Amino acid sequence: MSYEPIFDELPDTRFALNTGSGKLPAVGFGTFFDDPAATIDAVTQALQSGFRAIDCAERFGNEASVGAAVHAFLETGKARREDLFITSKLWNNNHHPQRVLPAFEASRQRLGLDYLDCYLIHTPFAFQAGDELHPRDAFAHILYDSGVTLIDTWRAMERLVDKGLCKSIGLSNVSLQALQDVVAVARIKPALVQVEAHPYLPEWELLQFCQQHGIVFQAYAPLGHGLEPSVLNEPVLNQMARRLQKTPAQIALAWAVQRGTAFVTQSTTLSHIQQNIDISTLPHRAMHEIRQDITHRVRFNSVNETGVHLFSSAPR
Ligand SMILES: NC(=O)c1ccc[n+]([C@@H]2O[C@H](COP(=O)([O-])OP(=O)(O)OC[C@H]3O[C@@H](n4cnc5c(N)ncnc54)[C@H](OP(=O)(O)O)[C@@H]3O)[C@@H](O)[C@H]2O)c1
Repeated sequence: MSYEPIFDELPDTRFALNTGSGKLPAVGFGTFFDDPAATIDAVTQALQSGFRAIDCAERFGNEASVGAAVHAFLETGKARREDLFITSKLWNNNHHPQRVLPAFEASRQRLGLDYLDCYLIHTPFAFQAGDELHPRDAFAHILYDSGVTLIDTWRAMERLVDKGLCKSIGLSNVSLQALQDVVAVARIKPALVQVEAHPYLPEWELLQFCQQHGIVFQAYAPLGHGLEPSVLNEPVLNQMARRLQKTPAQIALAWAVQRGTAFVTQSTTLSHIQQNIDISTLPHRAMHEIRQDITHRVRFNSVNETGVHLFSSAPR
């Protein structure tokens, strides 16, 4: 059986935010890189290749490098600030309401931007407040702070929107229950939820809740973070890729957008960056096949259970 690929505008898909403050490009580039020079190179290549959504975080430790690449690109005149969608995230040691504004301001200044398009609570876990990103006791156990709730932090996030400092707010690494709890009491509803999602972790239930509430679902690790068992070696995706003359990565990313999610992928390889934005609509039958035939389930990142980033499986 062969499929006729349909060439279209899938890479230009944008999801409207429930705040009315703009649209998130479905195709996004992540910046979880260790090295400042690699960060600048990768972000520059991503922007030049057409990515317009850039995902950052205080925890990634490289916002200044991302900001440098963004500013250099804006100076070329190939895009205006309003064409870009820049997100950053509040880390776990800053969940206390009085720490939210300073943490946000520090990220904004490192990025060198007047405003952020979205600011996310990176995980629902509050660590002990302070300068330590991972505060630990004498036994190296993480010190959590039970004195602050996710709702307390959310109220402080809402005030950032009130002040016009960021256009929208959201959550990352949340369970469906935690998201429901926030939505139930929020004055400003979450606009965006960013969680691990890929064909081995489709999170259909969470996606359905997001769609019912007009919340954009953004998948991170959409290619499985380069870990084993490799999403990119999945036989169903490989057979489909051969039939459609695309790569398995392009199939996984097209599937992500077509089922109604945005994604953030990352790469330091130019050919990968370029192919990750060169996606096209899959035939209806292929979408069905991915949902029906890929039954293997893997969560690679246990951050949503502990608040500590730990991609399990063999290192890349
Ligand atoms: N909210 C959170 O807690 C959280 C956690 C993790 C990540 N994130 C965000 O999500 C972003 C992406 O995360 P991720 O690294 O897990 O994404 P990913 O795109 O699933 O995995 C990236 C890996 O895939 C490889 N790759 C990329 N494109 C490829 C292609 N076309 N063909 C073959 N291999 C390809 C990359 O290697 P090469 O460099 O060789 O291409 C890299 O090893 C991060 O940068 C970050 O912004 C958020």
